Amino acid sequence: MAPSLSSRVRIIGHGIDLVPVERMYRLILDHGDHFLARAFSPQEIADCRAQRREAERFASRFAAKEAVFKALGTGMTNGITLLDVAVESLPSGRPTLIVRARAAEIAAAQGITQWHVSLTDTDAYSMASVIACGPD
Ligand SMILES: CC(C)(COP(=O)(O)OP(=O)(O)OC[C@H]1O[C@@H](n2cnc3c(N)ncnc32)[C@H](O)[C@@H]1OP(=O)(O)O)[C@@H](O)C(=O)NCCC(=O)NCCS
Repeated sequence: MAPSLSSRVRIIGHGIDLVPVERMYRLILDHGDHFLARAFSPQEIADCRAQRREAERFASRFAAKEAVFKALGTGMTNGITLLDVAVESLPSGRPTLIVRARAAEIAAAQGITQWHVSLTDTDAYSMASVIACGPD
């Protein structure tokens, strides 16, 4: 069956980011909870801490935040903070994005209604790709 026209979306923005895991490991070691609370939601912190290799988990979520700022085309300007974006994982493990506060306002002004995120990592790097979509 052909998809209905109402389900069509257009891509409004795309962003990627790559974070060295060692850099995240150092930030956590040097600045601990203070850094984590400035960059990650309580849910993200709990999720990452509950998993093995937490530095990779934090690094991929940090990359997702930066990727959102690139997809918006703003970078981290205009009052946007790292806490405006959070990654939540579905029971299947699939990550989803929560975009709130100033980032959500800017996204709404651009017509963005959907976010797609994909994360990956190796021992050395964590990476995120984010696509922002809106109605066609
Ligand atoms: C763009 C941003 C989101 C990421 O920059 P970055 O991580 O320093 O740099 P990256 O190497 O990942 O990305 C650089 C690329 O971003 C792209 N970029 C720059 N400004 C952009 C914007 N407004 N929108 C989309 N993409 C942008 C450019 O293509 C640039 O590459 P180029 O210089 O070769 O053209 C930056 O605006 C930012 O706000 N960084 C915040 C960093 C931070 O707070 N770190 C805290 C550590 S505790």
